Amino acid sequence: MKPIQVGLLGIGTVGSGTFNVLKRNQEEITRRAGRGIQITMVADLDVERARAVVGEGVQVVNDARAVIANPEIDIVVELIGGYGIAKALVLEAIAAGKHVVTANKALLAVHGTEIFAAAQAKGVMVAFEAAVAGGIPIIKALREGLTANRIQWVAGIINGTTNFILSEMRDKGLDFDVVLKEAQRLGYAEADPTFDIEGVDAAHKATIMSAIAYGIPVQFDKAYVEGITQLGAADIKYAEQLGYRIKLLGITKRVEGGVELRVHPTLVPAKRLIANVEGAMNAVVVQGDAVGTTLYYGKGAGSEPTASAVIADLVDITRLHTADPLNRVPHLAFQPSELSDLPVLPMSEVVTSYYLRLRVADKAGVLAQVTGILAGLGISIDAVLQREADEVAGEGSTQTDLIILTHDTREGTMNDALAQIQALPTVLAPIARIRKEELA
Ligand code: HSE
Repeated sequence: MKPIQVGLLGIGTVGSGTFNVLKRNQEEITRRAGRGIQITMVADLDVERARAVVGEGVQVVNDARAVIANPEIDIVVELIGGYGIAKALVLEAIAAGKHVVTANKALLAVHGTEIFAAAQAKGVMVAFEAAVAGGIPIIKALREGLTANRIQWVAGIINGTTNFILSEMRDKGLDFDVVLKEAQRLGYAEADPTFDIEGVDAAHKATIMSAIAYGIPVQFDKAYVEGITQLGAADIKYAEQLGYRIKLLGITKRVEGGVELRVHPTLVPAKRLIANVEGAMNAVVVQGDAVGTTLYYGKGAGSEPTASAVIADLVDITRLHTADPLNRVPHLAFQPSELSDLPVLPMSEVVTSYYLRLRVADKAGVLAQVTGILAGLGISIDAVLQREADEVAGEGSTQTDLIILTHDTREGTMNDALAQIQALPTVLAPIARIRKEELA
């Protein structure tokens, strides 16, 4: 049978990985797919670079629309990124009756509802395994492997840049700014790392996972997003002393009344496997009612790991493209007519436990004042750690750090408590508050 024809829009890191892996493993991939898969056309603004990657025999153009307009192309792979031109091209490809593979998490997290509806109406597939956690087949696992389960929660290290920075901060006891500069020098962090360090990239991925886990529309605008820029080396050290590691987690939970969807630095017990995921690696834990806890670990970025996911999608489409559209795996795991309107809860309704670090005057009654406020609001304390003043702020210091771990409480209640505690004259600096998850 004639190989399925693929057109790439963009041939940078992931595109060249896709081209090379497809070529290298062509024989096995064909045996799996039941038919050859061939990249026959590539669009890239840098035609010279594209030509250098693909050699002769592949048509290279600088106009993505020429790929979409080519009637020979069955699948369009969008590797441009962002919500601008990429959105227009994906919608045009769908309108032209092409199946689409994309690694674009930002596009799907923000415009997924529109894109999936367009694909559904046209009877084409939009596949996006590479959009979440790179080479880890987490979309496949959530959408198919765990389909028997009522998913209870998903928690993941889904941004390699920030996990690398946090690992370095812990290993070397350095502050965020210092490690970020080093990560940029080594090429681990982008020149503009905003989306990574502010948690936006992780929130895009968590949004996609929440939609698939619970059968709700993608709702990036409802996600709570907090990055790692405010995290101090002291908090990583204190967390360690209390038996925890700090990770930037993307979390989505099914709770009474709705769904939690949040990204923030999180204390995780050091004994959990996910707490020991270091460097730029990714990992996702999924809790299902039947299967219990499952863990997926691997490279979340990079040329060939991401290509691995892109090609898995190409194989899926090749196997399924002649199937009746109604018998294909739905984009968001649940049949489009069966999506739920379960609300994404505001952050004030989220229930979790907390790590608090307070710089306080080292004198009688301070701890009692603080615990009094917590008790007054019904917030239960799990552990308290107080350092020697000399150790914290130098010999003869009259200040010290008070670290408090709480039991579960509503975020809104914690906000009220923190406002009252911050107003105490004996609290001398802004309070550090980091959420804590036991992931049991
Ligand atoms: N910037 C992302 C990361 C790359 O650091 O994980 C993959 O989405």
